[in-house]
Amino acid sequence: MPHRVIVTHHIPEEGPHLLREHGFRVIQLDHFDTHRELLAKAKRADALLCLLTDRIDDAVLAMLPRLRILSNYAVGFDNVDVRSATRRGILVTNTPGVPSNTVAEHVIAMMLGLTTRLVEADAFTRAGKYHGWDPLLLLGTDVVHKTLGIMGLGNIGKLIALKARGLGMQVLYTDAAPVSRSVQKSLGVKPATMKQLLKKSDVVVTMVPLMPSTRHLIAEKELRMMKKNAFIINAARGPVIKEVALVHALQRGIIRGAALDVFEFEPRISSALRKLRNVILTPHTASASAETRANMSISAAQNVVDFFAGKKPAHTVNPQVFRTER
Ligand code: GLV
Ligand code: GLV
Repeated sequence: MPHRVIVTHHIPEEGPHLLREHGFRVIQLDHFDTHRELLAKAKRADALLCLLTDRIDDAVLAMLPRLRILSNYAVGFDNVDVRSATRRGILVTNTPGVPSNTVAEHVIAMMLGLTTRLVEADAFTRAGKYHGWDPLLLLGTDVVHKTLGIMGLGNIGKLIALKARGLGMQVLYTDAAPVSRSVQKSLGVKPATMKQLLKKSDVVVTMVPLMPSTRHLIAEKELRMMKKNAFIINAARGPVIKEVALVHALQRGIIRGAALDVFEFEPRISSALRKLRNVILTPHTASASAETRANMSISAAQNVVDFFAGKKPAHTVNPQVFRTER
């Protein structure tokens, strides 16, 4: 009997194609959110390929008695109850590294969008407000010689650092696991405490995974430590920044601006945030290049293929499950 893989949403065809090529039976869902469709198909599923928006909690896992592997189509896996999966002997995999460069490009685009006031300038021009060159019109700020503070120097953080160095910026970072001196040197980055980073940076980027320790990592106190002219960018997970505190800081000029690809109550975005001119908002599309989304599809499928071939998948969240099974 072929192994059955439930794919919870439509994703680029490359991954499902790879699964079929390897003899898997692909069961495509449309409405995972209601759980109804899942319930109907779940009893015989050997694998689940799901999205970061699918909340895979203990109750959902309990609906999947045959499940051996849960392949998350994402780098982040805060949507999965990993402890419950581990207890049930289910391997959890993700796709780290695959979207890193695309996300880093998006973060740099957001940074330059803020500093050049690109989105504001576009809206201004389209509105027919441009009546001739003006030395004082829409003044932005340079990034050259400025300081970028990266909170979370993982795969994505490192690529942001390299690109920012290319733009002539100094780069500070914080990370739960500081990188080696030689890596620091090759990236041209300096370690800092969180306080130092917030006080010295002209642009702060949060690039940490969402965990209990990073929820509201940036709130009132942290925003007050930042320079009045500084910008903050979040392309990690929304709850890393306390949204109501950020809105207040932006309204009161405690910081100069923000660019957000993720939101605390995603997909809901507070109307106060949407009204602000000094923010750039994108709908969790930092990894949305056609190439990267196709490669994530292949990577998520390959994790399933490898697992059933008896090989340890390239990216495992709870590898101990794989070890104890064999
Ligand atoms: C996107 O947010 C991801 O985790 O891949
Ligand atoms: C991103 O791909 C990461 O692994 O940090």
